[in-house]
Order: sequence, then structure tokens, then C-alpha cells
Amino acid sequence: MANWQGFYKLSWQERLQRTIENKNLTADQAALITQHYDMVGEQQVENYLYNFGVPTGLLLELPVDGRLVTVPMSTEEPSVIAAANNGARMMRAGAGVQTVIESRLVRGQIILDNVADVVALQTYVETHLTQLLQVANDAHPSMAKRGGGAKALTVEVLDAQTAIVNVLVDPKAAMGANVVNTMSEAIASVLRQAGYEVLMAILSNFATESLVKAKVAVPVTALATKQGMSGADVAAKIAAASRIETLSPYRAVTSNKGMLNGIEAAVLASGNDTRAVNAALHAYAAQGGQYHGLTRWTVQGEELLGETTLPLILGVVGGSIGIVPAVKLNHALMDNPTVNELTSTIAAVGLAQNLAAIRALVSTGIQAGHMALQAKSLALQVGAAPAEVPALTAALQQAGKFNETTARELLAKLR
Ligand code: HMG
Repeated sequence: MANWQGFYKLSWQERLQRTIENKNLTADQAALITQHYDMVGEQQVENYLYNFGVPTGLLLELPVDGRLVTVPMSTEEPSVIAAANNGARMMRAGAGVQTVIESRLVRGQIILDNVADVVALQTYVETHLTQLLQVANDAHPSMAKRGGGAKALTVEVLDAQTAIVNVLVDPKAAMGANVVNTMSEAIASVLRQAGYEVLMAILSNFATESLVKAKVAVPVTALATKQGMSGADVAAKIAAASRIETLSPYRAVTSNKGMLNGIEAAVLASGNDTRAVNAALHAYAAQGGQYHGLTRWTVQGEELLGETTLPLILGVVGGSIGIVPAVKLNHALMDNPTVNELTSTIAAVGLAQNLAAIRALVSTGIQAGHMALQAKSLALQVGAAPAEVPALTAALQQAGKFNETTARELLAKLR
């Protein structure tokens, strides 16, 4: 019977030892854990054992708001980074992506239950507005000093006895989760003193007050394929594919997953919260009752126009950003963007990723490009030594069959 008693109270060495014993780890497995021990990682999570590495590659020369941006992307999936680069290449044939960030506010929700009189609550919040905002800002004074902080309060009535007091906070360069939670709890305690029953106080990740709009015009000539499909044909099919996303949620989910291939990889590399971004984007895609694609592609004259609006709340300070050396490195690779620049960049990554995937789908099919790049992983999977990978990959490409049986046969032949 494995003994995990008090595991979290042990030192890392003791935890390693206990894991080795409880799981009968081999010397190689124990060595792997030791090699990937990280002092910072140990401070970040509980029951820490080792750092699980995610391969990180570069998206180069992504054209965003007149700049060519380098974007580190962390993902385990082959072809994602190649596709993002491919999307950026096509976008560079035009003026690139233009973005607009209309507002950047994070919502805190103070949720009240068993409210005796919701109209009286509205009156209370209106008459105490300045005081409540002050309480929020006093809970995190440095934010107001920087020109940010709590900016507005609204009351949202859910039913006759349930209401939410929303506080809208400008978190400046941070993602703001901790600031907003602190401010929401400060307001909650005032409301409790005023006799209200507070069920909870927490930020909302549905960042509808932090929308970024991104647009791109790609000359159709840049979409032509090596296999001979004209740019105009590709553009028309991309627009048709985009329309299907408004009709079929099954297709829309897959398209959004493809867009998130890029967004999530770039968000992860930037040290931001991928779960928060994912949750917000999917909720936004379902707004209006039917899940739809987050991008829209249409043809206008000689150009393919792409657009997206995304609820994105990111940070360039706070969280893991200040403490994880690899995240700092990634920010340096991006030339240390401001929070708005990072937000615009992530939206542009989404457009580039989506463009490349849909172009592949409506022309060669996804497997041609995706599987060709997956061949390296396949080679390792069937036991090729790193030195054998290039030859096996080439053989797989020549065979045009990317499955384990073929890979094993070809590896045997090579040997
Ligand atoms: P290609 O046209 O066969 O290759 O694309 P190419 O050699 O002509 O390269 C075109 C450009 O791609 C290059 O331009 C590079 O920018 C980039 P160049 O610099 O040569 O002028 N590129 C690369 N960048 C880095 N490393 C590489 C590399 N190769 C090309 N090795 C490619 C090949 C894979 C790019 C293309 O087929 C493609 O974009 N495919 C889409 C792949 C994709 O979306 N993969 C994600 C996984 S599938 C999925 O999960 C999403 C999906 O379900 C979403 C949906 O349904 O909407 C599909």
C-alpha cells in the first residue's frame, strides 16, 4: 500500500524518494525527474516534483500594426508553428494585421443571494458609488496610483432575490486576477456590513470589457498553392469555409481549436493563463446561443479579408511573468511588448494560424503538410535514434504514408 501521508510537507528530496518507492521508478526515471528539477518551479506549484518541458519555437515576422513581431510559441503539436509562419508569410504580402483595443477592463463579481429588495440594492450602490470605488482602490492602492484601479460599478439583477454587483477594474499592465479578487472582496465586506448576503466575490474570466479587434487583408495572389490552385480559388473556398462555421458548431469548434493552436501556444510562452483565455474565447464563440467560429473570412475584389474579435485579458507583469526565467526570455524575444502590443500580437497569431489551417483544408487537405511535419515525431515513436530521424522522415515523405507500420518497415530497411 503506497504511503503518500504528508507528501506536501516533505522536502523535494524526500518527495522524490517517496515517489520512487511508491511507484517503483527505475533509475532512469528518477534521473529524469532530477534533471528537470527547477528551484522556481518548486515555488510555483504544490507537491512539486519536476518541470515538464514544452517545446518552444518561433513565429517570425508576424505583421502586426506596422511592426514585424517575433512570437515564441510553446506547443507539443507538430506543424502548428510552421502553419503560423505560413499564415504570417501570406499576411506579409499585404499590409498585415491591424488591431484596435477599445477597452481593457476586468470584471469582478460580487454575487448576492437572498436580496430582500433588488431595487433598494441598486439605490444603495448608486448612492455609495464613490465610497465603494474608494474601498476597492484602497485595497490595492498602487493600481490607482498608476492610473488604473476600480473605475465603475454596476448592478445586474438576476432574479427577484439574486443580484451581482460588478466592479470594473483597469489592471494596467497586469492580467489583474489577484487585484480584481482583492478589490471584489473589499467591496463584498462593505456590502456584508450593509446587511447583504454575499455568496462569493471573484473576477469573471469572460472578458467582454477587454475586446481586441483584428483585421487583415491578404492579396489573393498570396494564397495560390504550389500544386496549382489559383489564389482566387483558394480565397473563395476559405470564404465558403468561414460561412460553414456560422452554420455548423461542429465545424466551428474545430476551426476555433485550430486558432487556439496558435493563441494558446503564444499565451503559454508569454507566461499568461491559457485556461482563462480558452474559457473566455469559447464563451464568446457561443454568444447569441449558437457556437460559431471566431474568425470571419470574406473576399472583396482581389483581397481576402479576415477579421476577429476576441475577449483577451493578458498581462506583461505579475503572475509567473516576473519569476520564470524562460518567460522573461520570451518577453525579450518579443522585444518586451506593452500589454496592448501583446494582446494585439496574440489576436494576430490567431488570424495567421486560422488562415494557414483553412487554406490547407480547402486546398491540399490537412494531412499533406501536417503529417509531413509529424513524420519526425512518428520516427521517434517507432524507435528511430535521433541520427536516424532525417533519413526515416525522408523515406516516409517519399512513401507518402504516415503510419506506424510503414515507419517500422522503412526503419528496418534503413538499418
Ligand atoms: P507548404 O506550403 O507545404 O510549405 O506548407 P512551404 O515549404 O511552401 O512553406 C510555406 C511557408 O510555411 C514557409 O515560407 C514558412 O513560412 C512556413 P518560406 O519561409 O519558405 O517562404 N514553413 C515553415 N516554418 C517553420 N518550419 C517549417 C516550415 N515549413 C513551412 N518546417 C505547412 C506546409 C505545414 C506550413 C502548410 O501545409 C500549413 O500551413 N498547414 C496547416 C497545418 C496546421 O494547421 N497544423 C495544425 C495542426 S492541424 C489542427 O489541429 C487544426 C485544424 O483542425 C484546424 C481547422 O480545422 O480549422 C486543421
